[in-house]
Amino acid sequence: MGTRLRTLICTFVFASWVSLASGTQYQQNSHHTKKDLLPKEQAHLIEADLAADNAKTNTLFLADPPDNSSSSSVDGDTLDLPTCLLCVCLTGSVYCEEVDPDMTSVPALPKETAYLYARYNKIKKITAKDFGDIVTLKRIDLTGNLISEIEDGAFVKLTLLEELSLAENQLVRLPILPVKLTSFNANHNNLKTKGVKANAFKKLTKLRNLYLAHNQLEAVPVIPESVVILHIQNNNISTVNTDTFCKSNDTYYIRPNMNEIRMDGNPVILAQYPNSFTCLQSLPIGRYH
Ligand SMILES: *[C@@H]1O[C@H](CO)[C@@H](O)[C@H](O)[C@H]1NC(C)=O
Ligand SMILES: *[C@@H]1O[C@H](CO)[C@@H](O)[C@H](O)[C@H]1NC(C)=O
Ligand SMILES: *[C@@H]1O[C@H](CO)[C@@H](O)[C@H](O)[C@H]1NC(C)=O
Repeated sequence: MGTRLRTLICTFVFASWVSLASGTQYQQNSHHTKKDLLPKEQAHLIEADLAADNAKTNTLFLADPPDNSSSSSVDGDTLDLPTCLLCVCLTGSVYCEEVDPDMTSVPALPKETAYLYARYNKIKKITAKDFGDIVTLKRIDLTGNLISEIEDGAFVKLTLLEELSLAENQLVRLPILPVKLTSFNANHNNLKTKGVKANAFKKLTKLRNLYLAHNQLEAVPVIPESVVILHIQNNNISTVNTDTFCKSNDTYYIRPNMNEIRMDGNPVILAQYPNSFTCLQSLPIGRYH
């Protein structure tokens, strides 16, 4: 593919992208397609990413070189990879959204991929080999697939991974998560308490956003102190105890970062657990019994 053609495709993709990101708010009120159901936090991610990627795209425009073809900004390896015929590969980013024909497993990724967007495909399973060599990954978005199984080793080698979305899949259990994560989204799955160990997040000391809404959890896992936003609404949580958010042996403890908890849509009666929330700077938002 010539550089110009590639530039044209990029322009097209990004134009759609911009209209998607900026249209999210409006579309929520009109007809609903699956993209409209995009959680707000996802839209923010995409916007932030756009900003980051615009810089790269612009370079691609400006640097459009006189046609001595080997000077493409995409290296030879990448051009040969079938993934980049189905998906859009930019330096460091791979966009595979609603790929046709159906994509049922994680595609082979170019070396040094940092951002993977593979939303709204039909991926069913993530194996330990899928991301094995791509230790450069910083963000993986697998929203809206059919994932019901993830091998425990799938993400452990990804020591740079900061953002992971597995939202709108069919998971009943979570794999081991890498410790540098700052944002984890597993909204709209079938997660059970048995599949989310109490200490699943304990070691993730950089975690800021944790989304576990619309699952079947019956207990709140240990929430690291770094967490700022916790969404765990619409689960089956019927009790909380003092140690869920606070420290039972330290009545002066104030949880430092947490400023948004959603627990609505659970059978828990918050008024029965007044001591469980005294260490929070703001109470859970939403409606409660
Ligand atoms: C491409 O152009 C650059 C600078 O104009 C030159 O240094 C390089 O050798 C050229 N490459 C080929 C394959 O002709
Ligand atoms: C919700 O949790 C209760 C136990 O607290 C259990 O008896 C019930 O079956 C659960 N409901 C669902 C839909 O899992
Ligand atoms: C409370 O318990 C934890 C762990 O059990 C301990 O590390 C901490 O020092 C205790 N705090 C106080 C104030 O006793």
